[in-house]
Amino acid sequence: MAAGSTAINFSTPCALFPCQPLSLGFSRSSFHRHQAAKNQRRSTRRAASTPAITAKLELKPPPYPLNALEPHMSQETLSYHWGKHHRGYVENLNKQITGTELDGMLLEDIIFLTYNRGDILPPFNNAAQIWNHEFFWESMKPDGGGKPTGDLLELIKRDFGSIDTFMEEFRAAASTQFGSGWAWLAYKANRLDVGNAVNPSPADEDKKLVVVKSPNAVNPLVWDYYPLLVIDVWEHAYILDFEARRADYISIFMEKLVSWEAVGSRLEMAKAQAAERESEERRRQEEEEKNAGDAEAVEMYLDSNSDEPEAD
Ligand SMILES: [Fe+2]
Repeated sequence: MAAGSTAINFSTPCALFPCQPLSLGFSRSSFHRHQAAKNQRRSTRRAASTPAITAKLELKPPPYPLNALEPHMSQETLSYHWGKHHRGYVENLNKQITGTELDGMLLEDIIFLTYNRGDILPPFNNAAQIWNHEFFWESMKPDGGGKPTGDLLELIKRDFGSIDTFMEEFRAAASTQFGSGWAWLAYKANRLDVGNAVNPSPADEDKKLVVVKSPNAVNPLVWDYYPLLVIDVWEHAYILDFEARRADYISIFMEKLVSWEAVGSRLEMAKAQAAERESEERRRQEEEEKNAGDAEAVEMYLDSNSDEPEAD
């Protein structure tokens, strides 16, 4: 475990984990970032009608009508993709977590815990697929496409060399993801290439945009990155409109559907959260140093007392 991180012990649900406390070994600051992420997430829960079940995840609709992306993504595709697949993940996860200690947790926390540092626990796939699909719907808009602007554009130029190079890398990631999965643009504030590790001395030059692809339901949250943009390259995302032509689907997504406004807003939020996280880490270190200094002073005082000559 990285220096400065603390294992968090969770009392685990017997239906999912061994019936004993299990140290999942996540760094506390990583966990807290996910706690912070929940604050930006619009609620997908409702109060349960019975006190035994604390909350249920709800199927969140796309932020536009199901025909709003036509002709680039058909109503038929969205009805099938959102109404069948996304709905299925929600229903299945609710069944999996009802009555367990995951019941009532925020989705990001369920994802983080059940990823279990790569030793994936059963609810992970449904939980992550819910998050990924909500993020995907919000990555698109009617009359989308075009080019990014502002800070996002500048960071893309800095980290990829040009907007065209970024576009090529993103297309390549999406088209070469073998089988089902996702391609992402993410903000990486942690320079360590170790999952869940804490960067002990983050600097501005460490923070950069990256293009990554992930298999099945995995998303960059589990690597401690901040996702900014995603394309779903599961076949169910494009089979009705493009048959097996994934490359055509990727082109239409980039040219006609991406909401660069959403990506830009996510970048600003990611930078703010990364800065807040660093500030918290600095405060924690200062507190530890102060406590260590106080303890040393007490020890010296006690030592000096013991060195005093005894009175005759
Ligand atoms: Fe999908």
